[in-house]
Amino acid sequence: MTQVLGIDIGGSGIKGAPVDIETGQLLAERLRLITPDPSTPKACADCIAEIAKHFHWDARIGCGYPGVVKNGVTLTAANVDEGWINLDAKTLIEHATQCKTSIVNDADAAGLAEIRFGAGREVKGLVMMITLGTGIGTALFVDGKLVPNTELGHLEVRGKDAELRASDRARVKKDLSWKDWAKRLDEYLVVVERLFWPDLIIVGGGASKNHEKFIPFLSIRTPIVPAQMFNDAGIVGAALAGMELAVDYPK
Ligand code: BGC
Repeated sequence: MTQVLGIDIGGSGIKGAPVDIETGQLLAERLRLITPDPSTPKACADCIAEIAKHFHWDARIGCGYPGVVKNGVTLTAANVDEGWINLDAKTLIEHATQCKTSIVNDADAAGLAEIRFGAGREVKGLVMMITLGTGIGTALFVDGKLVPNTELGHLEVRGKDAELRASDRARVKKDLSWKDWAKRLDEYLVVVERLFWPDLIIVGGGASKNHEKFIPFLSIRTPIVPAQMFNDAGIVGAALAGMELAVDYPK
């Protein structure tokens, strides 16, 4: 059994649990810490070290981060402190935890988990995972192979960044009914559909546990299904990516 500590760094919580990456099972109850405010790299790395300590961890760690990541360097920071921009996050976390670490985009991680163990298992063609949480994250798979760092949550809809109108955070902040929020989400999905013509859309993230409250209101023709691993996809996928996506892109 190969075990990796999966960590999901989010705008509101930092969650982690040891994962058996051969089965996608969490091996212990996950630990969730509130994301520090401000969410500076140092403060978040300390949280990750606390999670590692909680699980007496001394093996490999895989992290999902809510922004673009290449070669262990975090390049954007839409919903976390700007100190993450152009930061060697891999080295920072390795120093804080003393564990070999990999870091990838959070939606890519969640998508990887769904493709391997969840709603995208053995699905051919173009599968898009869309996470609806603090932001909107996307992961694109072609015949099961990831196209990393797609940032389609930032497509423009009605002249605005889509995630500001249609993320789960926007629903809560603007106190929208599920139906009203579904209309906004639908407008976004129509744009995605027109540009990418996916074969399957998997919705994950915080909102996906209430999928029956909004999926029925969507008008798109692409089949759309909820993530099967719900919120665990982020942790499981981060662990998987820790083993599998530890690749270097050209600099
Ligand atoms: C970021 C993405 C991230 C998504 C979900 C967006 O604001 O730009 O990289 O995947 O939020 O966390």
